[in-house]
Amino acid sequence: MKPFEQMDTMKSARKNETGEVGSDLSEQIKAATKDNHVRAENTQLMLSYQKGEITLVQYKVLLCSLYEIYRALEDEMDRNASDPAVAPIYFPQELSRVESLERDLEHFFGSEWRKRVIVPAATQRYSQRLRQIGRENPELLVAHAYTRYLGDLSGGQVLGKITQKSLGLSSKEGLSFFHFPGVSSPNRFKQLYRSRMNSIELTEKEKAAVLEEAVQAFELNIQVFDDLQKMLSVATETADQHKDRSSAAVLPSS
Ligand code: HEM
Repeated sequence: MKPFEQMDTMKSARKNETGEVGSDLSEQIKAATKDNHVRAENTQLMLSYQKGEITLVQYKVLLCSLYEIYRALEDEMDRNASDPAVAPIYFPQELSRVESLERDLEHFFGSEWRKRVIVPAATQRYSQRLRQIGRENPELLVAHAYTRYLGDLSGGQVLGKITQKSLGLSSKEGLSFFHFPGVSSPNRFKQLYRSRMNSIELTEKEKAAVLEEAVQAFELNIQVFDDLQKMLSVATETADQHKDRSSAAVLPSS
Protein backbone atom coordinates (compact mmCIF):
# COMPACT_ATOMS: atom_id res chain seq x y z
CA MET A 1 0.00 0.00 0.00
CA LYS A 2 1.27 3.48 -0.82
CA PRO A 3 1.90 5.67 2.28
CA PHE A 4 -0.89 8.12 1.37
CA GLU A 5 -3.33 5.21 1.15
CA GLN A 6 -2.22 4.03 4.58
CA MET A 7 -2.93 7.47 6.04
CA ASP A 8 -6.38 7.64 4.44
CA THR A 9 -7.21 4.16 5.72
CA MET A 10 -6.13 4.94 9.27
CA LYS A 11 -8.33 8.00 9.35
CA SER A 12 -11.38 6.08 8.16
CA ALA A 13 -10.72 3.22 10.56
CA ARG A 14 -11.60 5.45 13.54
CA LYS A 15 -14.84 3.92 14.77
CA ASN A 16 -17.81 5.76 16.12
CA GLU A 17 -17.71 4.54 19.70
CA THR A 18 -21.41 5.12 20.44
CA GLY A 19 -22.42 2.95 17.47
CA GLU A 20 -24.56 5.81 16.18
CA VAL A 21 -24.42 7.07 12.60
CA GLY A 22 -21.85 9.86 12.55
CA SER A 23 -21.61 12.79 10.21
CA ASP A 24 -19.29 11.06 7.72
CA LEU A 25 -20.78 10.62 4.28
CA SER A 26 -19.71 6.95 4.19
CA GLU A 27 -21.65 6.17 7.36
CA GLN A 28 -24.67 8.22 6.40
CA ILE A 29 -24.92 6.72 2.93
CA LYS A 30 -24.75 3.20 4.31
CA ALA A 31 -27.49 3.95 6.86
CA ALA A 32 -29.66 5.79 4.31
CA THR A 33 -29.61 2.86 1.87
CA LYS A 34 -29.82 -0.01 4.37
CA ASP A 35 -33.47 -0.87 3.61
CA ASN A 36 -32.91 -0.49 -0.13
CA HIS A 37 -29.99 -2.90 0.09
CA VAL A 38 -32.26 -5.48 1.71
CA ARG A 39 -34.82 -4.93 -1.08
CA ALA A 40 -32.11 -5.31 -3.75
CA GLU A 41 -30.90 -8.56 -2.18
CA ASN A 42 -34.47 -9.84 -2.23
CA THR A 43 -35.25 -9.24 -5.90
CA GLN A 44 -36.02 -12.45 -7.80
CA LEU A 45 -32.79 -12.15 -9.78
CA MET A 46 -30.60 -11.75 -6.68
CA LEU A 47 -32.48 -14.52 -4.86
CA SER A 48 -31.85 -16.87 -7.80
CA TYR A 49 -28.23 -15.86 -7.49
CA GLN A 50 -28.01 -16.60 -3.81
CA LYS A 51 -29.62 -20.01 -4.34
CA GLY A 52 -27.02 -20.80 -7.01
CA GLU A 53 -29.76 -20.95 -9.63
CA ILE A 54 -28.45 -18.31 -12.01
CA THR A 55 -28.74 -19.43 -15.63
CA LEU A 56 -26.55 -18.53 -18.57
CA VAL A 57 -29.39 -16.51 -20.15
CA GLN A 58 -29.86 -14.54 -16.91
CA TYR A 59 -26.15 -13.84 -16.67
CA LYS A 60 -25.92 -12.77 -20.32
CA VAL A 61 -28.78 -10.27 -20.09
CA LEU A 62 -27.36 -8.97 -16.82
CA LEU A 63 -23.98 -8.40 -18.49
CA CYS A 64 -25.70 -6.43 -21.28
CA SER A 65 -27.40 -4.16 -18.75
CA LEU A 66 -24.26 -3.73 -16.68
CA TYR A 67 -22.38 -2.73 -19.82
CA GLU A 68 -24.87 0.05 -20.59
CA ILE A 69 -24.80 1.23 -16.95
CA TYR A 70 -21.02 1.23 -16.53
CA ARG A 71 -20.49 2.89 -19.88
CA ALA A 72 -22.64 5.79 -18.71
CA LEU A 73 -21.13 5.86 -15.20
CA GLU A 74 -17.52 5.73 -16.40
CA ASP A 75 -18.04 8.19 -19.27
CA GLU A 76 -19.40 10.67 -16.75
CA MET A 77 -16.72 9.95 -14.14
CA ASP A 78 -14.03 10.48 -16.83
CA ARG A 79 -15.62 13.69 -18.05
CA ASN A 80 -15.86 15.06 -14.50
CA ALA A 81 -12.59 13.59 -13.22
CA SER A 82 -11.25 16.95 -12.07
CA ASP A 83 -14.45 18.09 -10.39
CA PRO A 84 -13.67 18.49 -6.65
CA ALA A 85 -16.58 16.18 -5.78
CA VAL A 86 -15.36 13.47 -8.14
CA ALA A 87 -11.54 13.68 -8.03
CA PRO A 88 -11.13 12.04 -4.57
CA ILE A 89 -13.15 8.95 -5.62
CA TYR A 90 -11.83 8.72 -9.18
CA PHE A 91 -10.02 5.37 -9.40
CA PRO A 92 -10.20 4.35 -13.07
CA GLN A 93 -7.24 1.95 -12.90
CA GLU A 94 -8.57 0.09 -9.91
CA LEU A 95 -12.30 0.13 -10.60
CA SER A 96 -13.20 0.62 -14.28
CA ARG A 97 -15.50 -2.15 -15.46
CA VAL A 98 -16.20 -1.28 -19.09
CA GLU A 99 -13.25 -3.17 -20.57
CA SER A 100 -13.85 -6.24 -18.42
CA LEU A 101 -17.52 -6.25 -19.44
CA GLU A 102 -16.47 -6.02 -23.10
CA ARG A 103 -14.28 -9.10 -22.63
CA ASP A 104 -17.13 -11.01 -20.98
CA LEU A 105 -19.65 -9.99 -23.66
CA GLU A 106 -17.25 -11.10 -26.40
CA HIS A 107 -16.76 -14.40 -24.60
CA PHE A 108 -20.48 -15.17 -24.49
CA PHE A 109 -21.77 -13.48 -27.67
CA GLY A 110 -18.74 -13.78 -29.96
CA SER A 111 -16.93 -11.12 -31.97
CA GLU A 112 -20.20 -9.58 -33.20
CA TRP A 113 -21.31 -8.99 -29.58
CA ARG A 114 -22.00 -5.28 -30.08
CA LYS A 115 -24.93 -6.10 -32.37
CA ARG A 116 -26.40 -8.44 -29.76
CA VAL A 117 -26.36 -6.22 -26.67
CA ILE A 118 -29.94 -5.57 -25.56
CA VAL A 119 -30.88 -2.61 -23.39
CA PRO A 120 -34.24 -2.99 -21.65
CA ALA A 121 -36.26 0.11 -20.65
CA ALA A 122 -35.25 0.20 -16.95
CA THR A 123 -31.57 -0.07 -17.91
CA GLN A 124 -32.01 2.81 -20.33
CA ARG A 125 -33.63 4.92 -17.59
CA TYR A 126 -30.66 4.20 -15.27
CA SER A 127 -28.05 5.16 -17.86
CA GLN A 128 -30.01 8.29 -18.80
CA ARG A 129 -30.08 9.35 -15.14
CA LEU A 130 -26.31 8.85 -14.92
CA ARG A 131 -25.69 10.94 -18.01
CA GLN A 132 -28.02 13.65 -16.78
CA ILE A 133 -26.33 14.05 -13.40
CA GLY A 134 -22.91 13.89 -15.09
CA ARG A 135 -23.98 16.94 -17.10
CA GLU A 136 -25.98 18.80 -14.47
CA ASN A 137 -24.95 17.70 -10.96
CA PRO A 138 -21.58 15.90 -10.98
CA GLU A 139 -21.45 16.11 -7.17
CA LEU A 140 -24.15 13.40 -7.17
CA LEU A 141 -21.96 10.91 -9.08
CA VAL A 142 -20.46 9.72 -5.79
CA ALA A 143 -23.85 8.21 -4.88
CA HIS A 144 -23.83 6.05 -8.00
CA ALA A 145 -20.14 5.17 -7.89
CA TYR A 146 -20.55 4.10 -4.24
CA THR A 147 -23.63 1.99 -4.98
CA ARG A 148 -22.05 0.06 -7.83
CA TYR A 149 -18.35 -0.17 -6.99
CA LEU A 150 -18.62 -0.81 -3.25
CA GLY A 151 -21.35 -3.33 -4.03
CA ASP A 152 -19.08 -5.05 -6.56
CA LEU A 153 -16.30 -5.20 -3.97
CA SER A 154 -18.67 -6.59 -1.29
CA GLY A 155 -21.50 -9.01 -2.13
CA GLY A 156 -20.36 -8.89 -5.77
CA GLN A 157 -17.28 -10.93 -4.91
CA VAL A 158 -19.48 -13.76 -3.62
CA LEU A 159 -21.74 -13.46 -6.68
CA GLY A 160 -18.69 -13.99 -8.91
CA LYS A 161 -17.91 -17.30 -7.23
CA ILE A 162 -21.57 -18.37 -7.43
CA THR A 163 -21.68 -17.48 -11.15
CA GLN A 164 -18.61 -19.59 -11.86
CA LYS A 165 -20.10 -22.56 -9.98
CA SER A 166 -23.69 -22.23 -11.26
CA LEU A 167 -22.62 -21.93 -14.89
CA GLY A 168 -19.91 -24.55 -14.55
CA LEU A 169 -17.27 -22.18 -15.92
CA SER A 170 -13.88 -23.74 -15.47
CA SER A 171 -11.65 -20.69 -15.76
CA LYS A 172 -12.07 -16.96 -15.33
CA GLU A 173 -13.36 -16.71 -18.92
CA GLY A 174 -16.56 -14.70 -18.95
CA LEU A 175 -16.08 -13.59 -15.35
CA SER A 176 -13.78 -10.58 -15.77
CA PHE A 177 -16.51 -8.32 -14.40
CA PHE A 178 -16.02 -9.74 -10.91
CA HIS A 179 -12.23 -9.48 -10.93
CA PHE A 180 -10.42 -6.36 -9.84
CA PRO A 181 -6.73 -6.98 -10.61
CA GLY A 182 -5.85 -3.47 -9.36
CA VAL A 183 -7.38 -4.10 -5.94
CA SER A 184 -5.32 -6.49 -3.84
CA SER A 185 -7.52 -6.28 -0.75
CA PRO A 186 -11.19 -5.35 -1.32
CA ASN A 187 -11.63 -4.57 2.39
CA ARG A 188 -8.65 -2.22 2.56
CA PHE A 189 -9.69 -0.59 -0.69
CA LYS A 190 -13.23 -0.05 0.62
CA GLN A 191 -11.77 1.68 3.68
CA LEU A 192 -9.70 3.94 1.47
CA TYR A 193 -12.74 4.64 -0.70
CA ARG A 194 -14.87 5.54 2.34
CA SER A 195 -12.22 7.94 3.62
CA ARG A 196 -12.05 9.56 0.19
CA MET A 197 -15.83 9.92 0.14
CA ASN A 198 -15.62 11.58 3.56
CA SER A 199 -13.06 14.08 2.27
CA ILE A 200 -15.44 15.48 -0.36
CA GLU A 201 -16.55 18.95 0.67
CA LEU A 202 -20.30 19.21 0.43
CA THR A 203 -22.80 21.68 1.84
CA GLU A 204 -25.57 20.18 4.00
CA LYS A 205 -27.96 20.58 1.10
CA GLU A 206 -25.61 18.80 -1.31
CA LYS A 207 -25.02 16.02 1.19
CA ALA A 208 -28.77 15.47 1.58
CA ALA A 209 -29.06 15.34 -2.22
CA VAL A 210 -26.27 12.73 -2.40
CA LEU A 211 -28.05 10.54 0.18
CA GLU A 212 -31.31 10.84 -1.75
CA GLU A 213 -29.49 9.99 -5.00
CA ALA A 214 -27.99 6.88 -3.41
CA VAL A 215 -31.48 5.68 -2.49
CA GLN A 216 -32.46 6.33 -6.11
CA ALA A 217 -29.38 4.46 -7.33
CA PHE A 218 -30.45 1.35 -5.41
CA GLU A 219 -34.00 1.73 -6.73
CA LEU A 220 -32.72 2.00 -10.31
CA ASN A 221 -30.78 -1.22 -9.79
CA ILE A 222 -33.87 -2.94 -8.38
CA GLN A 223 -35.89 -1.81 -11.40
CA VAL A 224 -33.21 -3.16 -13.75
CA PHE A 225 -33.27 -6.56 -12.02
CA ASP A 226 -37.09 -6.71 -12.00
CA ASP A 227 -37.25 -5.68 -15.65
CA LEU A 228 -34.74 -8.36 -16.67
CA GLN A 229 -36.60 -10.98 -14.69
CA LYS A 230 -39.93 -10.01 -16.26
CA MET A 231 -38.41 -10.07 -19.74
CA LEU A 232 -36.96 -13.53 -19.12
CA SER A 233 -40.19 -14.97 -17.74
CA VAL A 234 -42.12 -13.68 -20.78
CA ALA A 235 -39.47 -15.24 -23.06
CA THR A 236 -39.66 -18.56 -21.17
CA GLU A 237 -43.49 -18.62 -21.27
CA THR A 238 -43.49 -17.89 -25.01
CA ALA A 239 -40.93 -20.65 -25.62
CA ASP A 240 -43.03 -23.06 -23.52
CA GLN A 241 -46.18 -22.17 -25.50
CA HIS A 242 -44.33 -22.83 -28.75
CA LYS A 243 -43.13 -26.15 -27.38
CA ASP A 244 -46.69 -27.07 -26.27
CA ARG A 245 -48.08 -26.13 -29.67
CA SER A 246 -45.49 -28.04 -31.61
CA SER A 247 -45.82 -31.13 -29.42
CA ALA A 248 -49.64 -30.89 -29.69
CA ALA A 249 -49.22 -30.87 -33.47
CA VAL A 250 -47.36 -34.17 -33.40
CA LEU A 251 -49.61 -35.81 -30.80
CA PRO A 252 -52.01 -38.30 -32.32
CA SER A 253 -55.55 -36.94 -32.09
CA SER A 254 -57.87 -39.08 -30.00
C1 HEM B 1 -22.21 -4.28 0.94
C2 HEM B 1 -24.14 -8.63 0.21
C3 HEM B 1 -26.56 -6.97 -3.62
C4 HEM B 1 -24.60 -2.63 -2.92
C5 HEM B 1 -22.52 -5.60 1.06
C6 HEM B 1 -21.97 -6.48 2.05
C7 HEM B 1 -22.51 -7.70 1.84
C8 HEM B 1 -23.41 -7.60 0.72
C9 HEM B 1 -22.24 -8.97 2.62
C10 HEM B 1 -20.95 -6.11 3.10
C11 HEM B 1 -21.63 -5.43 4.24
C12 HEM B 1 -20.63 -4.83 5.18
O1 HEM B 1 -19.42 -4.88 4.94
O2 HEM B 1 -21.06 -4.23 6.14
C13 HEM B 1 -24.96 -8.55 -0.91
C14 HEM B 1 -25.68 -9.68 -1.49
C15 HEM B 1 -26.36 -9.20 -2.56
C16 HEM B 1 -26.06 -7.79 -2.66
C17 HEM B 1 -25.62 -11.10 -0.96
C18 HEM B 1 -27.25 -9.90 -3.54
C19 HEM B 1 -27.32 -11.17 -3.72
C20 HEM B 1 -26.24 -5.65 -3.75
C21 HEM B 1 -26.74 -4.80 -4.80
C22 HEM B 1 -26.20 -3.58 -4.60
C23 HEM B 1 -25.34 -3.67 -3.43
C24 HEM B 1 -27.69 -5.24 -5.90
C25 HEM B 1 -26.37 -2.32 -5.39
C26 HEM B 1 -26.58 -2.27 -6.66
C27 HEM B 1 -23.80 -2.71 -1.81
C28 HEM B 1 -23.01 -1.60 -1.29
C29 HEM B 1 -22.31 -2.07 -0.19
C30 HEM B 1 -22.68 -3.47 -0.06
C31 HEM B 1 -22.96 -0.21 -1.87
C32 HEM B 1 -21.34 -1.29 0.67
C33 HEM B 1 -22.00 -0.87 1.97
C34 HEM B 1 -21.06 -0.01 2.78
O3 HEM B 1 -20.13 -0.56 3.32
O4 HEM B 1 -21.29 1.18 2.84
N1 HEM B 1 -23.39 -6.31 0.25
N2 HEM B 1 -25.21 -7.44 -1.64
N3 HEM B 1 -25.40 -4.93 -2.95
N4 HEM B 1 -23.57 -3.81 -1.05
FE1 HEM B 1 -24.43 -5.60 -1.30
